[in-house]
Amino acid sequence: MISKDIKKQFPIFKNYTDNNFLYLDSASTTLKHKFCISKLNQYNEEYSANIHRSVYPIAEKATNEFESTRFKVSKFINSKKEEVIFTKNTTEGINLVAYSWGLKNLTENDTILITKMEHHSNIIPWQFVSKKTGCKLKYVPLNDDGSLDMIAYESMLTEDVKLVSIIHQSNVLGVINPISDIIMKARKNDSLILIDAAQSISHIKIDVQSLDCDFLVFSGHKMFGPTGVGVLYGKLNILNQMDPFLYGGQMIDQVSDLDSTWNDIPRRFEAGTPNIAEVIALGECIDFISNIGLNTINEHLNDITNSYLELLSRNKDITVYGRELNRGPVISFNINGIHSYDFCQIMGQYNISLRSGNHCAQPLLNHFDTNSSCRISFHIYNEIDELNFFEDNLKKTITLLS
Ligand code: ALA
Repeated sequence: MISKDIKKQFPIFKNYTDNNFLYLDSASTTLKHKFCISKLNQYNEEYSANIHRSVYPIAEKATNEFESTRFKVSKFINSKKEEVIFTKNTTEGINLVAYSWGLKNLTENDTILITKMEHHSNIIPWQFVSKKTGCKLKYVPLNDDGSLDMIAYESMLTEDVKLVSIIHQSNVLGVINPISDIIMKARKNDSLILIDAAQSISHIKIDVQSLDCDFLVFSGHKMFGPTGVGVLYGKLNILNQMDPFLYGGQMIDQVSDLDSTWNDIPRRFEAGTPNIAEVIALGECIDFISNIGLNTINEHLNDITNSYLELLSRNKDITVYGRELNRGPVISFNINGIHSYDFCQIMGQYNISLRSGNHCAQPLLNHFDTNSSCRISFHIYNEIDELNFFEDNLKKTITLLS
């Protein structure tokens, strides 16, 4: 069970009295845990040296702490340590694969398969690769309720599909895709597979070895951690065949006037000074999540999500997209006659934070014949007790805007 006192571990709540701040936008970014904040400060105040370069004590401490996060991440997803590459965020991880693997390996005879529920960060890099290489970009369609059409997926897995790139949990609908099955089918077809785990990594166990995915990407800021740090996991034998994404310091082995050779993995993909403090702080978030346990977090989120679903479904003027889906802690909806921006803005005035718009997923919104929705999303600091506060303000806002 999640402790009733969990909110005390998130300093942002200190700014609000009387429990009148309701944060329902964790799919966008989670609130920051106090251990993450103090670790960031500790690095900046006590050992703010560069890493992998110098041998004086604070530089060695910084390097050890940075590499310790790599070790923690590798244990968390069950990979080898060197298969963990630090990026800026999920988007950069996908771009890295697009540039370093896609441009090198794809031709006009090949196809990349994505789905109609992808975030733009898992669409635009592949549009770019498709334009550059001439390879085809195809979309697996959705069923009416927004779930992935698995029959279509299977039939689209033809010999020319060299990569399947897919979101684990939709950032709009919350639907959780059956990635074990999806990966198994891709494997049989000899297609590589990339999983965008930005929305799932903080509450669903992901074991890259038992799943057997080739790439996995996620962001630290959706795990109670800082912005500016993300992770790309890649299978070592594939990463070894890939050229660098960014060029500069640390990613090289030997440099002569006109040519250079590349460093080993993972350093080949970590050019320049990284976000050192942020990477170190991410290690604290991994510990925090692991200590509570993903199953405990997931159960808590299921209970909250179900109570909000029930509440919203009682109002006949509210359309919940994909009401019956197997979902994570995300719900998208629209209210008859009220624009999502107006609704979310007024709710914001009542200290309720929720997101409106297309959620960087226009093809998915088009599937439901709309261009925007209201979205609520939860994490461990949310409580079922908050539902009354939400309901009161929901009613007030609807009355005001009707
Ligand atoms: N991908 C984040 C969201 O869905 C930013 O809000």
